[in-house]
Amino acid sequence: MKTTHAITMIALVGAAAVGGYLMLGKTADETATAAPGAPIVTVALPAQLSENAQIGKRAYEAKCAACHGVNAVGQEGVAPPLVHKIYEPGHHGDLSFQRAVKFGVKAHHWRFGDMAPVEGLTEGDVVMITRYVRELQRENGIF
Ligand code: HEC
Repeated sequence: MKTTHAITMIALVGAAAVGGYLMLGKTADETATAAPGAPIVTVALPAQLSENAQIGKRAYEAKCAACHGVNAVGQEGVAPPLVHKIYEPGHHGDLSFQRAVKFGVKAHHWRFGDMAPVEGLTEGDVVMITRYVRELQRENGIF
């Protein structure tokens, strides 16, 4: 009886140790990739942005970065990165940026939910924002 008890204890302690080790390993991994608000991709910055892209960057930071993240890296649980293969010009042309801002976007590529229309931007502003995103995409080998 005593021995059985000891063996059970050893087994339990062993299992707890292994379980704890696995859980810690997992938690560390998951915080690195899935903490709410964490960047979804890493974006390399071009040495120089064109003048239009610099104007677009300011508008982007005022109107888009709260969801799509600084430098369009995306945010876990909030919105996708725009520096992403899905948004290359061949798949999401410049007009899709105009449409997204004007009419909003029904969730279809991701599970972040819908994007509401963004108020207070002219078509010209969105051209500049698109230019900025394209220059980031190009620097990061998206197209
Ligand atoms: C309130 C959060 C929020 C803000 C602010 C926001 N977006 Fe979005 N956006 C989203 C989400 C979420 C999606 C993903 C929808 C999906 O599942 O495809 C998205 C998708 C997009 C798409 C893809 C459209 C398509 O056709 O699939 C573009 C382009 C885009 N956003 C541009 C912008 C620009 C430019 C701004 C700033 C002017 C902006 N967004 C501001 C949340 C936001």
